[in-house]
Amino acid sequence: MATVLSLSGSPSATSRTARLLRHLDARLTAQGHHVVPLDVRTLPAAALLGADFSHPAIVRAKALVEQADGLVVGTPVYKAAYSGLLKSLLDLLPQYALAGKTVLPLATGGTTAHVLAIDYALRPVLSSMGAAHIVQGWFTLDKDITVEPDGGVSVAAGAAEALEQVVDQFSAALGHTTVLATAS
Ligand SMILES: Cc1cc2nc3c(=O)[nH]c(=O)nc-3n(C[C@H](O)[C@H](O)[C@H](O)COP(=O)(O)O)c2cc1C
Repeated sequence: MATVLSLSGSPSATSRTARLLRHLDARLTAQGHHVVPLDVRTLPAAALLGADFSHPAIVRAKALVEQADGLVVGTPVYKAAYSGLLKSLLDLLPQYALAGKTVLPLATGGTTAHVLAIDYALRPVLSSMGAAHIVQGWFTLDKDITVEPDGGVSVAAGAAEALEQVVDQFSAALGHTTVLATAS
């Protein structure tokens, strides 16, 4: 079993990205992983924007990253890249905060024009932070995510299948990382 930090970088209170992540968390939990959700928007804005490395909430977030074997990093596409909110937290983490960790990058966006934002924008940042293995990510169109009355989401068939595949690949990669970590 691996510990997974499921990190949403949307500033929206009604975020589709965050809901999508919580939906996928359930699949990872069912596969035996311990999933810890974290919405960056719940961290204090002044600490994020003022680079307050020693704020208790930032210290806690840093500890959650340290304790995780893997991370799901989800962001809405903003101006053809990841959200500034996500970056504000990543900037407060140590340079190699992702060393030894497996990462699943996910994005939601309004147009397929930016379907590659994960690869040209997010992936290089995760890589620079030392991630051991960044598995195949997925971009989901916002119109393919329907918010249900209970606050959950349903995902359009094609997108749902692709997401299940990348989550399962991430889960398998986690198993490998955890075994290696136990052996060393
Ligand atoms: C400020 C802003 C900028 C956006 N820029 C883009 C963009 O460049 N490309 C894109 O595909 N979608 C863009 N969108 C649409 C969002 O990425 C999309 O609706 C996403 O699913 C929102 O996720 P959220 O509900 O988790 O915040 C933008 C939305 C906002 C509010």
